[in-house]
Amino acid sequence: MIKTGYGAWVRAFESERERRAAVGDPDWGRGARLPAELVRSIQKFQVGEDGDGSALRGKADLAGDPVYSEAVRLFVAEEQNHARMLRLLLEAGGAGTLEGHWSDAAFVRVRRLLGLRVELLVLMIAEVVALGYYGALRDGAGDALVREVAGRILADEERHVPFHCLRLQEGLAVLPRPARRAVTAGWRGLLACAATLVAVDHGPALRACGVGRGAFVARTLRSSAWMARAMSGGPVPAPAEAGARV
Ligand SMILES: [Fe+2]
Ligand SMILES: [Fe+2]
Repeated sequence: MIKTGYGAWVRAFESERERRAAVGDPDWGRGARLPAELVRSIQKFQVGEDGDGSALRGKADLAGDPVYSEAVRLFVAEEQNHARMLRLLLEAGGAGTLEGHWSDAAFVRVRRLLGLRVELLVLMIAEVVALGYYGALRDGAGDALVREVAGRILADEERHVPFHCLRLQEGLAVLPRPARRAVTAGWRGLLACAATLVAVDHGPALRACGVGRGAFVARTLRSSAWMARAMSGGPVPAPAEAGARV
C-alpha cells in the first residue's frame, strides 16, 4: 500500500463541505440576467462539470491508498456541486441545461481509456482552463448572481489544482528527470491547444466579460508554469495555502 499524506486534503475538503452547508446556497430567487452568449457558454461548462466520477474513483481506488480515495470522492462531490449550481444559475436566468455536448462525450471516452496519471493530466487541463473561465466570469460578468456562483466555483478549482499536482508529482517521480520534463512540456502544449479551443468556442462570452481570446490563452498558459514545476518535483501548495498561488 502506498503511504501518502492526503489526510490534510481530506480535512480541507470536509471543512469546505461544512462551510458550504453553513453558508447555504446563493439566493437563486433574485434571478439572473443572462445574455444569450453567456447562456450557451455556461450550458457547455455545466455539462463538463456534470459526471459521476466513477472512472476516476475506480482508478484512485486501485492506487491502494484509502485516504487518497476518500479525498478523490470528496473532490468528485465538489465537481457535482458545480454542475448543480450552474444548473440552478441557468434556471435563475430562465434557461435550461444541455443533454450533453459532443466535446464532453469525447473527453469522457478518452479519459476512460487512461491510467490514473494520464487521466489526472487530462483532468488538470480542464481544471486550469476552468480557472481562467470562472475567473473571467467572477471579475467581469454583468450579473451579480453569475459573479457569485463563478467565485464559489473558482475557490474550489483553486484547491483542486494543487491536490492533483501532488498526486501527479508522486506519479511522475518514477520517471527520470528528462522524461518528466517532456511530460510537463507536452502537458503545457496540450493545455495551449485546449485553451485556444475554449477561447474560440466561448469567445463571445469571454468578450462579454472583458477578456479577449488571446488574453485568455496567454493568462491560462502563464498560470500553468508553477503547476508544471510542481508536477515535476517543485513545491506544491498545502491545502491551507491553495488559492494563494493560482
Ligand atoms: Fe469544477
Ligand atoms: Fe475542479
